[in-house]
Amino acid sequence: MTDLPNMRIDGARLWDSLMEMAKIGATPAGGCNRQTLTDLDRQGRDLFARWCAAAGMTLRVDRMGNMFARRAGLDDSLPPVMMGSHLDTQPTGGKFDGVLGVLGALEVVRSLNDMKLRTRHPIEVANWTNEEGARFAPSMIGSGVFAGHYTLEEALAARDLAGAEFGAELARIGYAGADAVGGRPIHAYFELHIEQGPILEDEGVDIGVVTHGQGQRWYEFHIAGFESHAGTTPMPRRRDALLGAARIVELFNRVALAHAPLAMGTCGLIEARPGSRNVIPGSVFLTGEFRHPEAAVLAAMDEALRAGAAEIAARGGLTCEVAEISYYPPVPFEAGCVEAVRRAARGLGLSHRDIVSGAGHDACWVALVAPTAMIFTPCVDGVSHNESERISPEWAAAGANVLLHAALEKAEVVAG
Ligand code: GLV
Ligand code: MN
Ligand code: MN
Repeated sequence: MTDLPNMRIDGARLWDSLMEMAKIGATPAGGCNRQTLTDLDRQGRDLFARWCAAAGMTLRVDRMGNMFARRAGLDDSLPPVMMGSHLDTQPTGGKFDGVLGVLGALEVVRSLNDMKLRTRHPIEVANWTNEEGARFAPSMIGSGVFAGHYTLEEALAARDLAGAEFGAELARIGYAGADAVGGRPIHAYFELHIEQGPILEDEGVDIGVVTHGQGQRWYEFHIAGFESHAGTTPMPRRRDALLGAARIVELFNRVALAHAPLAMGTCGLIEARPGSRNVIPGSVFLTGEFRHPEAAVLAAMDEALRAGAAEIAARGGLTCEVAEISYYPPVPFEAGCVEAVRRAARGLGLSHRDIVSGAGHDACWVALVAPTAMIFTPCVDGVSHNESERISPEWAAAGANVLLHAALEKAEVVAG
């Protein structure tokens, strides 16, 4: 009979797999550029699929390209215990954001195989499509359709900045699956992820027991002024769209600081047209986002943003269209799953603390349709969305061990 409490994943095998996956889209600065629905994403998915087949799992792909590798349960009619995250990265991403949660889950299955352990519930390892939202906005769209927040049609119609269509790109890389997206019961969902912030490392704590995900509001601005000559148009007569955009960038910062310390405000993408050094920009595309754990504070920030943007437009002789392209509500995770994570950390003798996720995660959408919780591990200096993102093999193994024990509690081990 297996000694369950002492069961551990194979940390060296997990680390090897993380390093192997990191070769796909590796950047000279040591990070990864494996953006969603690119040829490199296909290579990453193919490698994951090969590993899942080698671990005896059956792969299904839904119409959003979400991948679910399944290990049968003793009662295979029961809803699965699902674990997962994402393999896509930011353009200058790291090796671990998302990847740890997918390969950590695969390592859990490999370890169950090693020990010939069966579970009553089936187990599924998920790789969600387009978590990052870097190439196609909004982020977390694969899990968002799965949870019924977006329609399949609107997701497939999304376009990247070069005009490529999500659905066409998904088909091009061979991952437009046949399965319906979502609409099936999940017994429990666990997502392992690096914290992407500095709290755990600063406090020397092994594991973050994630109790909530904070809310986000994502915006797009189309600002229009008037293109004219940089050397001859008098300063008072200009209708400079880029100047208006710069003031909106500052507005995001100001509104977030007015709701310190928890509020965040960021503008990440700007395109000024026509993009010539001696032409006053006539139009600008700008993206911005706010984050906060409370919906009411996000609503107040939204109000301040809209009022401020209208004032900036009027002052500059501009028109400014604001579209909120996604609202991610603050999410409390399910008490039973959160407790399973806490219990697993305690049982493994790992130090742990409750924590709120500042980043968005697929778990935040899955939580709408299944009991869900997350496990955080530290990352060096809290740096993520950066090629220098770093973790230690010990941190990765500790997180995967918590994932193993939390998932097994829900999947119910049957002695092998
Ligand atoms: C996901 O990467 C996010 O933006 O939080
Ligand atoms: Mn992530
Ligand atoms: Mn990310």
